[in-house]
Amino acid sequence: MRLQGKKAVIIGGSTGIGLETARLLTGEGATVTITGRSPEKLEAATRQLEGPVTSHAFDGREVKAMQHFFAEVGSFDHLVLTMNSGGAVGAFLELEDPHFRSAFENKFWPFINAVRFGEKNLAPDGSITFVAGAAARKAVKGMSGIAATNGALLAMVGPLALELAPRRINAVSPGVIDTPYWHGVDETKRQEMFDFSASQVPVGRVGTAADIAQAILYLITNTFTTGTILDCDGGTHIT
Ligand SMILES: NC(=O)c1ccc[n+]([C@@H]2O[C@H](COP(=O)([O-])OP(=O)(O)OC[C@H]3O[C@@H](n4cnc5c(N)ncnc54)[C@H](OP(=O)(O)O)[C@@H]3O)[C@@H](O)[C@H]2O)c1
Repeated sequence: MRLQGKKAVIIGGSTGIGLETARLLTGEGATVTITGRSPEKLEAATRQLEGPVTSHAFDGREVKAMQHFFAEVGSFDHLVLTMNSGGAVGAFLELEDPHFRSAFENKFWPFINAVRFGEKNLAPDGSITFVAGAAARKAVKGMSGIAATNGALLAMVGPLALELAPRRINAVSPGVIDTPYWHGVDETKRQEMFDFSASQVPVGRVGTAADIAQAILYLITNTFTTGTILDCDGGTHIT
């Protein structure tokens, strides 16, 4: 019960990595607020989580909605940012300006706005954790857009850790993780992609949301860790 009496906010907590993080944090005694766009997904998540969980439905890309959420939520101890509404996937020369812009609208700006609006209510011994992505840590064809978005966030971890101290700012960089993130891909193709990804990494498997939730729990609870990028990717970044 390392988080007894603590309050955590997870932006993008209704499925996947955010949901597993909520499960782990409530198990450690935290009170958790999860967000997402779909009230149905939030309701389903809240039903399956044990412990004190509240939810707020809003689109994190809307600046005013993010601002309003943090004004409502009050003071808290830990902020986890996991939302993403899509990336600019494809060969660089086939992507156009709107693809890159939407990738930033879908992840970079919501994360930055959450920090801007949330830090006022963040406890002095609190933390912020970005969930970024291994595309920014290893060169892969067709991933320049996702690399740019996550790379921009990773580049901010150090400066923010200095500027927002003593609050701690860290990031986890996941490899391929089997979550609803991939549900838009046809099941057979998805399995082929998972099998291929597993064959490319030293650990020989794709990750689970629980793998990343454990990494986030470490970053939240280890009070000597700040300005750190934690690769939790089965070894992707060293291949
Ligand atoms: N899965 C992977 O292989 C992988 C690899 C590297 C990095 N990541 C990163 O890990 C993070 C979590 O991904 P995941 O795999 O857990 O995906 P997921 O299962 O699709 O979860 C995404 C969460 O974010 C919410 N969300 C999405 N767009 C939103 C928006 N505009 N406003 C508010 N909430 C929004 C979703 O709920 P609603 O849809 O209801 O809004 C959901 O709660 C993402 O940032 C992703 O880029 C994932």
